[in-house]
Amino acid sequence: MAIDDDEFEAAVAKIQQEVFSDVRRAFGDVGFERWRKTRYHGRMHDADSFARIRGACGDTMEIYLKFRDGVVQKATYFTDGCGSSALCGSFAAELAMGRNPDEVCRITGADVLKELGTFPKEEEHCAALAAETLQEALHQYMLNQTERRSREAVKGS
Ligand code: FES
Repeated sequence: MAIDDDEFEAAVAKIQQEVFSDVRRAFGDVGFERWRKTRYHGRMHDADSFARIRGACGDTMEIYLKFRDGVVQKATYFTDGCGSSALCGSFAAELAMGRNPDEVCRITGADVLKELGTFPKEEEHCAALAAETLQEALHQYMLNQTERRSREAVKGS
């Protein structure tokens, strides 16, 4: 028996509601809203630094940082991992924004989880991976700065 358009639409709407409920249950309201409308996603082509780390689970996280006047002006993430990784990358990027290197280097996976509020225990390693990648991107930025200063010092001598 064929189903008509109304029945089909009702079935799709029901499935969508079930998916929404599952996501909200797993990630809370904050995570649900960010999952529906992701932020800070994508590779940044004019970044001052970036890092890519593959976690033990096999997923890769990338974090890109752009600095201005000594603080992170823009941060983005990119991951081939699951929705949990994407949420953690997004919040790690958000936490870095507007912060100076000293402040960024204190951001941990626990801070990312705190922003989310609700998160599946078995996926907390995604937050650790996002924070670790952020730290590596910061480390890369500091190295780039040191190299730039050394080059300028050589030129000026
Ligand atoms: Fe691999 Fe989330 S499951 S980083």
